[in-house]
Amino acid sequence: MRSRNTAPQQPIGLVPGSIAALALCGLTMSGLLPGIIWKLVSILLCGMVWWQASLNVMAKMDRRQRFIFQALCYIGLFLMPLIGPGELPRMEYIALKFTGVFLWALIIAIIYNIIYKNKPKMRKKIVAGNWKMNTLPAEGVELAKGVVAGRGEVCSCVNFIVCPPFTHLAMVAEALKGSDIELGAQNCAAEAKGAYTGEVAAQMIAALGCKYVILGHSERRQYYGETSETLNKKMAQAYANGLTPIYCVGENLDEREAGKHFDVVKAQIEEVVYNLTEEQFKNLVIAYEPVWAIGTGKTATADQAQEIHAYIRKVLADKFGAAAAECPILYGGSCKPSNAAEIFAKEDVDGGLIGGAALKAEDFLAIGKGFQK
Ligand code: 13P
Repeated sequence: MRSRNTAPQQPIGLVPGSIAALALCGLTMSGLLPGIIWKLVSILLCGMVWWQASLNVMAKMDRRQRFIFQALCYIGLFLMPLIGPGELPRMEYIALKFTGVFLWALIIAIIYNIIYKNKPKMRKKIVAGNWKMNTLPAEGVELAKGVVAGRGEVCSCVNFIVCPPFTHLAMVAEALKGSDIELGAQNCAAEAKGAYTGEVAAQMIAALGCKYVILGHSERRQYYGETSETLNKKMAQAYANGLTPIYCVGENLDEREAGKHFDVVKAQIEEVVYNLTEEQFKNLVIAYEPVWAIGTGKTATADQAQEIHAYIRKVLADKFGAAAAECPILYGGSCKPSNAAEIFAKEDVDGGLIGGAALKAEDFLAIGKGFQK
């Protein structure tokens, strides 16, 4: 059974559902499909499509647009009973009015969907390379130089970030000088400074020129026991030192197969991101990385990515409202030049957090070319 935390169900495909609902309403209201059963079916279908269309569009709206949308729906609700014939049998009359109300709301939702679908995204497009524990310092510098050299071939609208191991940060920072490629670290300590042997403070990586820090990567959660409690502290350290966290979420294979992926990412967001202030939230990047797709060659399909990215944005909007529309959400997990374009073309995918393919400058840059929107 699905728990209450799961994503809203998509009861029916929006386009075929809308066509079917509009056709059915037309036929029942014109009397070509007589009888109360048809009317009830058309009410149900309109209701389902309207519900889905509303969820889709309202997730993309700011507070003012939501207000207008809901006001238009309510105006229909109040006006519809005043319009049309009054001398039908009681049930027929109620069915006719309900159909009219749903039809009205459905038309508004469809118009909004069309408007929002065609509106260009204003969010940052990001391609970030997580080098993990790969390359020696000199190799890292070569890699960074390769990215700098080819950067001009990719649209300047794409923001590139490289996240080498700690040991390479200073040298890679030097190699990136004069380019617009930004530097990130793969982790930072939960404490500011002191007797924490082997740890690297957020203040230290910031001093080396890092602008970003990856936090909550599944490999850190899995192999180093990072919990939401630790991550809350790390996030605080990142913000205190002017770093933008790239906060990773994602489910493992068992969780995906059990249909729990929505619950898992929701909890990962609620336990950490919900503790941020509105100001901090404006400076956050989310990376959705399904554990089963990391380094396995198995990629989430573009539709799977879009489904969960849209859900993540909705979870963010529940807490931060319209600001959620501005938060970049990256996809990570076997992303490569051959699949980037399809994944990045999705509405709620704003780029990628790249592992293996970030270790070759050519591939990393080619992924950046995947942006067509
Ligand atoms: P791969 O691209 O190698 O699957 O790794 C993804 C990742 O974990 C990036 O953080």
